[in-house]
Amino acid sequence: MAIERVIDTNLHEEDPEEEAVEFSLRPTTFDEYIGQTRLKTNLKLAIEAAKKRGDVLDHILLYGPPGLGKTTMAGVIAHEMNANLRVTSGPSIEKAGDLASILTNLADGDVLFIDEIHRLRRAVEEILYSAMEDYKLDIVIGKGPAARSVRLDLPHFTIIGATTRTGALAAPLRDRFGHQFRLEYYGDEDIQKIIERSARLLESKIEPEAAQLLATRSRLTPRIANRLLKRVRDYADVNGDGIIDTVTAKAALTMLEVDDLGLDPADRNMLTLMIENYGDRPVGLTTIAALTGDEPSTIEDFYEPYLMQLGMIERTPRGRLVTLKAKKHLGKVRES
Ligand code: ADE
Repeated sequence: MAIERVIDTNLHEEDPEEEAVEFSLRPTTFDEYIGQTRLKTNLKLAIEAAKKRGDVLDHILLYGPPGLGKTTMAGVIAHEMNANLRVTSGPSIEKAGDLASILTNLADGDVLFIDEIHRLRRAVEEILYSAMEDYKLDIVIGKGPAARSVRLDLPHFTIIGATTRTGALAAPLRDRFGHQFRLEYYGDEDIQKIIERSARLLESKIEPEAAQLLATRSRLTPRIANRLLKRVRDYADVNGDGIIDTVTAKAALTMLEVDDLGLDPADRNMLTLMIENYGDRPVGLTTIAALTGDEPSTIEDFYEPYLMQLGMIERTPRGRLVTLKAKKHLGKVRES
């Protein structure tokens, strides 16, 4: 089932226009980056200290739900360190040799961003251990009895790993990150500021009340806020004078079927199926996936975090439970 979801937190890298727009909206400095205050305070200190010592930053692990700005933050960190940023991802590094070639091509001080680091293969991951700890690369040359192992010196670099789930990371890898930060969902006010900043960059006029309305529908997530802004802008350009006010924003959101809590038809469908088939009983992840036709990992990474944040779903040892709040929201119980 491939419904296109406007509230999708995936970055559609296959769509060059979307990627280009997202890229152009990304802040490059801490001052431009809105929200995540605790993270910024800690990182600013670490960066200042590293610069003072003339050293590289310790490796950094960023974790949390998708769309909250892990890649953006990696760009900011590299910029603030005056370092080059190299970007790769766990699934795209197929062999140990691929990672060896990335590492040997780094320069002193470079920042290597590894997105979805929990999806690295085990053999690749093992290369990282000594690379991160001692800046050494252990490689085996030859095969069979003639095989020998050599150690190569690597430049001093910083790895920034990003993952939606720290639990999926092997302990030896996780422990090699000196800094580990969770990105938090944004408050509505910060999302509103992000929408207003993006509108300025896109040279689009949005009234503050409309930005506020969009913010409450954006699932506390900048990537969704920016995507909704672009859709609403299209609607205002076609159906009005291009200015986004609350009337156009509401009409566009109704057309997109995004409700007042930011849920879309796919969320409502999942919750409805769980209520209709299981009522008050907990449902296992694979069963939910079978009901909706999605992969379990899609449910876990993309649907669930926000629904749990909202208190619509609870995780219990025996499965997921739909809460009374969700039932009320979907009109499945009478309000008392
Ligand atoms: N665009 C996406 N995320 C942002 C953030 N945290 N601050 C400013 N602009 C953004």
